[in-house]
Amino acid sequence: MKCDAFGKCGSCQLYQLPYPTQVQLKKEELENLLKPFNPPPVEVFTGPESYYRGRGEFRIWRMEDGRVLYGMRKRGDGRKVVPIEECHIVDRAIFDFMPLLRRELEEGNPILKEKLYEVDFLSNSRGELIVTLIYHKKIEEELAEEVRKLRQKYPKVHFVIRKKGRKVVFDQNWLIEELEVEGEKFYYKIVENSFTQPNRSINQKMIGWALDVTQGLSGDLVELYCGNGNFTLPLAKKRFQKVIATEINKESIEGALYGAELNGIKNVTFLAMGVAQFAQLYQEKSPLLQNYRLETILVDPPRAGLDPKTREFVDKFDNIIYISCNPSTLRRDLEQLTRTRKIVRFAFFDQFPYTPHIEAGVFLQRSQ
Ligand SMILES: C[S@@+](CC[C@H](N)C(=O)[O-])C[C@H]1O[C@@H](n2cnc3c(N)ncnc32)[C@H](O)[C@@H]1O
Repeated sequence: MKCDAFGKCGSCQLYQLPYPTQVQLKKEELENLLKPFNPPPVEVFTGPESYYRGRGEFRIWRMEDGRVLYGMRKRGDGRKVVPIEECHIVDRAIFDFMPLLRRELEEGNPILKEKLYEVDFLSNSRGELIVTLIYHKKIEEELAEEVRKLRQKYPKVHFVIRKKGRKVVFDQNWLIEELEVEGEKFYYKIVENSFTQPNRSINQKMIGWALDVTQGLSGDLVELYCGNGNFTLPLAKKRFQKVIATEINKESIEGALYGAELNGIKNVTFLAMGVAQFAQLYQEKSPLLQNYRLETILVDPPRAGLDPKTREFVDKFDNIIYISCNPSTLRRDLEQLTRTRKIVRFAFFDQFPYTPHIEAGVFLQRSQ
């Protein structure tokens, strides 16, 4: 991949290395981190090395000559921003729309670019977009009118204007995402400003891997940090009799419920609650959980991994599928989870080519 911003943009830090070398180095780093737990050989999943991100967040950089550029965090100093002409890791829909938006900002009504601080993009597999314009000013009717005109001009693009505490939507803040897993299509609601897996191609492989490792398991599934039902819906449809899944973000849970409806999946219950509250329900033998035979748990926590109480809770299950976006917290959590279990499957998903980030999956089973 070639990019003029290599070396100054803080995002793609591995720009000097050919892509296969990056994969090899990240694989080895992950293997070394988890070596103490004696895992099986790592399964490696890669996808396209450029135009892979279905999400992008950019600061706005105004030049003295009136040009508007996008800004990224500066390499080596994340508090500073550097201007970039274009970004080659966002997907084609975002990549193609970025210069069009720039031109609108440069040549359109100046109210559009005045005090515009950040622009976020979210895309789906059909090339539709949500563009969020984040301002440091009051959202006045004149600005709203200009954004309404943009919405009319670009039929595949929906807009959201944000200012601290206020949001105006033109005319929806969500899209339908289509993913194919095991030859079957699944439809998801993805919502602006809520978590979605950034790399569509790798995400399909991660879901496929989760389906693969759970083949032949009996009982029901509990899932923590389920987001919009990314793993939940295929696992409910193809592997488990019943699934109960929790997530703290209400918009994601609404999306998950919508997704279940879209895919005609009826054997899943989504709960809008934090993991601590769910663990409490389990502890108290809540009637809500009475009809489940919960032997398997899937967790996909944020970078911080599992807090000590959640780790205790997860440690009660025979089978654990752990998807991690931070191998060091994964390693910390495995110290406890491998005391009575073996890692039986181990995967590296290269979700973030050209960046140092590593996504991993481990499947643990109670040792006999
Ligand atoms: C890495 S994302 C995974 C989401 C989902 N599994 C997916 O594949 O899209 C982590 C999710 O955990 C949620 N989350 C963060 N803290 C939480 C908590 N204490 N309890 C429940 N969910 C939480 C976030 O809102 C986010 O959706």
